[in-house]
Amino acid sequence: MNPGDPAGEPGEATREARGSASPDAAAGNAVIAIDGPAGSGKSTVARTVADRLGLPYLDTGAMYRAVAFAALRRGIDPDDADPVARLVQRVEVSVEAGVVTVDGVDASIEVRGAEVTRAVSAVAANPAVRSELVARQRRWAAERGGGVVEGRDIGSVVFPAARLKVFLTASHEARSERRAKEATDVSYDSVAADIARRDHADSTRVADPLQAAADAVVVDTTGLSLEDVVAEVLGHVNRSGGSTHSGAERAP
Ligand code: CDP
Repeated sequence: MNPGDPAGEPGEATREARGSASPDAAAGNAVIAIDGPAGSGKSTVARTVADRLGLPYLDTGAMYRAVAFAALRRGIDPDDADPVARLVQRVEVSVEAGVVTVDGVDASIEVRGAEVTRAVSAVAANPAVRSELVARQRRWAAERGGGVVEGRDIGSVVFPAARLKVFLTASHEARSERRAKEATDVSYDSVAADIARRDHADSTRVADPLQAAADAVVVDTTGLSLEDVVAEVLGHVNRSGGSTHSGAERAP
């Protein structure tokens, strides 16, 4: 199943997210959680770590972006909590190998665009959106026996028993420079302002704010290369023991 497939009745998914005492008991401890703010390098690092270990990889930010895209496409105001809460129960989202599909439409380019980036913080602050997407993320891991999962609340909320929790940080300037380099059509100043706005929104929202789990390994990536960060994370994976379904990290 894709992470966004609305399996079962909406009520069932919501109960799954809120209810069970050990929501991730089986798969959660085989999860490597990589969290951090925009531009901390988490997507590139998480994807590379997953590739090296032969593990499945889930970009949960793309799921929140997909819901924001679906709301905009239907003319729903992203700040209007009730219609967005109803929408998330029925929207079909698939995030696979960098391709994001929303109700069967390939939205891989649009979900990274400025309009969705502006709308996503409001959608992600909606508790109904969070409980539904968290349920889908747990189901994704349960079906695969774990994997590398990237986001803002993966170690703190979605998989509190994750095998390893990594929280990537970097200075605001370093993160803005990275994002400005990736984008061709926006200035450094507007990227820096957008990152500051989203940092604030993500850290101060009531539902599952961005914060490092108490037992996360915090890695400051300012001035580090991708290879440096990946090597550090893989070192922590090896020291974290436990098992992943591939066992690939023990390969030479
Ligand atoms: O890649 P970038 O850091 O720009 O953002 P993203 O990972 O694509 O996430 C987009 C937005 O979704 C974030 O600004 C958060 O508001 C939200 N998000 C979240 O609330 N929880 C997650 N687990 C992942 C993303």
